[in-house]
Amino acid sequence: MAKKLPKTPSIQLAPSILSCDFAKIADEIAEIASNGIEMVHLDVMDGHFVPNITFGPPVVAKIRKCSDLFFDAHLMITDPQKYAQPFIDAGVDNITFHIEVVPEPTDFIKKLHDSGISAGLCLNPETPVSAIEKYAPLADMILVMTVHPGFGGQSFIAKAAEKIAPIRQIVGPDVRLEVDGGIDPETARLVTSYGADTLVAGNAIFGQTDRAVAIKAIRSACSK
Ligand code: DX5
Ligand code: ZN
Repeated sequence: MAKKLPKTPSIQLAPSILSCDFAKIADEIAEIASNGIEMVHLDVMDGHFVPNITFGPPVVAKIRKCSDLFFDAHLMITDPQKYAQPFIDAGVDNITFHIEVVPEPTDFIKKLHDSGISAGLCLNPETPVSAIEKYAPLADMILVMTVHPGFGGQSFIAKAAEKIAPIRQIVGPDVRLEVDGGIDPETARLVTSYGADTLVAGNAIFGQTDRAVAIKAIRSACSK
């Protein structure tokens, strides 16, 4: 049975395993869990929608066996509708997909809900809020990309973060609003002040030697 997204209005950090040591993935996830993390962000890339390839359902299924955290899958793939079921079977709790490849997502969101998981709707830095406006209230989470998807460790695009406040207006307080790309203590403060409540961080957590310190630094920077 899939887990529910952590209740709003809590701030959640979702470390992205893209920046972890893949040779020790179980230990890496256990370490963040022991620091109070409830969600882990799984960046799935297909070498087509983005110029990079990561991992697919068989890897997720193995990771599922060694962690009880909420699995937040971010599908940066051209055909998320085709591959959703294998990821659901592998044990993800949420699928976030891109509006750029599913411009009319009502049925897909319903399908994810019927399968018992949460649905997230993502928009790239150049994609306007108007693209998701009609569908945003149907989703459980909106993901605002603040880098061009494909790689960890890129610089935060401040202009893209300006979409957070208008999206919060549209969805109200109960839909999670996640930000992905270039999050560190400074940008975490900014995006939470705009209304974000879910922060993906790769480099700023798994890229650091002391993860406890890194997590604490982002948490304490967040605007309450
Ligand atoms: C980028 C991914 C991100 C990435 C974030 O395409 O969607 O989740 O891991 O990495 P950082 O936090 O290093 O920018
Ligand atoms: Zn991501």
